[in-house]
Amino acid sequence: MNITVYPDQPLFKRSFMIYGHFIEHFHRQIYGGLFDPTNPLSDEDGFRMDILEAMRRIHVPILRWPGGCFVSAYHWKKAVGEKRTPFFDKAWRVEDPATFGTDEYIKLCRKIGAEPYICTNAGTGTAEEMSDWMEYCNLESEGEFAKLRIRNGHEEPYSVRYWSIGNENYGSWEIGAKEADEWSRLVLEAAKMMKHVDPRTELSAAALPDIDWNVKLLGRGRDFLSWISIHKYWNLMAEENDFADYNETMAYTNDLETDIRKVRGLLMAFGLEKKIRIACDEWNLRGWHHPKVLSIQQGITKEEYLYPRDKNDQNEDYTMADAVFTACYLNTLNRNADIVGMACFAPIVNTRGCIFSYDQGIVLRSTYHVFNLYVNYMGDEILSSFESGGESLTVTGKAGDVQTVSAMDVLATRKADGTICIAAVNKDAENVHDLVINAGLKGLLEARVMTVNGSETTSYNDIGHTDVTLTESDWMQGEGTLQLQFMPHSVNVVQIRRCPV
Ligand code: AHR
Repeated sequence: MNITVYPDQPLFKRSFMIYGHFIEHFHRQIYGGLFDPTNPLSDEDGFRMDILEAMRRIHVPILRWPGGCFVSAYHWKKAVGEKRTPFFDKAWRVEDPATFGTDEYIKLCRKIGAEPYICTNAGTGTAEEMSDWMEYCNLESEGEFAKLRIRNGHEEPYSVRYWSIGNENYGSWEIGAKEADEWSRLVLEAAKMMKHVDPRTELSAAALPDIDWNVKLLGRGRDFLSWISIHKYWNLMAEENDFADYNETMAYTNDLETDIRKVRGLLMAFGLEKKIRIACDEWNLRGWHHPKVLSIQQGITKEEYLYPRDKNDQNEDYTMADAVFTACYLNTLNRNADIVGMACFAPIVNTRGCIFSYDQGIVLRSTYHVFNLYVNYMGDEILSSFESGGESLTVTGKAGDVQTVSAMDVLATRKADGTICIAAVNKDAENVHDLVINAGLKGLLEARVMTVNGSETTSYNDIGHTDVTLTESDWMQGEGTLQLQFMPHSVNVVQIRRCPV
C-alpha cells in the first residue's frame, strides 16, 4: 500500500473530545470500581488512585455520566447533600446507595481534568427537574438549588458546559420511551428551561440515524441544540454473551461510518451542519451483557438477571480484535471530525471498559493501549492524503455474511510542532502488510513507529498476564519515502519529522 500525505492541505482540526469516555451506574463501573471508599488504594474522597492515574494518562477530555439506561429514572436530588436516599434503580434493578452523586462526579472530573457531561433524565424526569439540576450546578447563588449546592459545601458553581437531554428515549427498552413527536416537544421545553438557567451551556439530545425521529427533533430543537447524540455497539450481547471472534469483528469494519453519514446528511438537509455537531456519546465494539432486564421477559432470580453481568469482567474476552476495531473507529471519528465533535467510549472502567479494576489493582485491557496511542502520539490536524495499492481481506461476519474489507486502515494527521503522525492499522489476522509513505516533507527526515500488539489475535491482558503492549521504536533517519512493514493484527502510529538541524 502507498500513502502520499499533503501537509499543505490540512482538512480540519479534530476536537480532542472525540477521545472521550462514559461511565454509568451499572455493575462495578462506579460502586466497587472507580468509587471504592473502603479500598486502601482509594484517596480521601473514595476514588481509586490507580484508576484515576490511568485515566489521566489517556487524558480523558470529557466524561459522560450517570447513564445510559440508568438515567431515565434517576432523580439527582436524592444523591446530593448530607442525607443520601438509597433508591431502587429501576433500569438495572439494584439498589443505588446514592453515595456517588453530582458533587462526587464533579470532584472526579476535576481530579482527572475532564469536562463534565451530564445526561439528564428524560424518561420519568421533567423539563423542570433537568433545569433544576443545571441551577444546582451552574448558578452562582440564585434560587433554591444553587443555595443547596452552597449548603452542601460547594460555594463555587460547577459551570458544567455540556448537557444531554435524555438517553435512547426512542428505544422500547428505555424507561419513559417516547414517540418522535412527544420527544421533540419534551426536548424543546427542556432546552428552553435549561437555556433560561444558563444560556452558555451546549445541549445535546438523544437521537438515532432515523429520519422521522430527527426531522421532528431538529424541526423543534434546532434553535437550542448544539449537539445531536447517537450511540453504536456492533457486537450486541445484552442477552447472549456471544463474542464475535477476530475475523467476525473485522467484518464490522465495513459499518463504521454508516450512522455518521446518515446523521450528517440529515443535518445538511436542514442546513444545520455548521451549527449542530454529532456526539457519538456511547460506542464500543462490544455491547454490554445484562440478560433479562432490558427485555419484556424480566429475570425472576438474580441468577437470571443480575449475576450474569459478571461475565462482562472476563478479561480474556478483550483481545486484539477489540484493539484493531477500536483503532479503525477512532480513524473514522478523526475522518469525520468536521462534524463529529465528541465521542464517548462506553464505558471506561469495568464492564466492557478499557480499564479493569480488582481489589488489589487494575488491568489495562487492549483498548486502553489504543487510546494511549491515539491520544499521545497522533496529531490533532487531519491531513489530506492519497492511498493506493491497498489489499483487501475476505472475512465472514457474525451472521455468516461474507465481507470484503480493506487490509489496512490508514489516517494522516499532524501535530502542532509539524510532526506528521500516520495511523496504520493492519487488520489482517495472519499476514504482514507494507506501507510506502511519502510524508510530503523534504530533506533529511527521522521517523519512529509506535505499535500496540500481542502475539496472537486472541492476545489479552489480565491479572498477572500481559500480552498486549504499546512499544516504541527508536528514531530512524532517512530521506524521501519510507517503506515499513506492519505485523498482523497490529495498531501502529508512524511519526515523521524533519531532522533537527
Ligand atoms: O448496555 C448498556 C446500555 O447501552 C446503556 O445503558 C444504554 O445507553 C445503551 O443502550
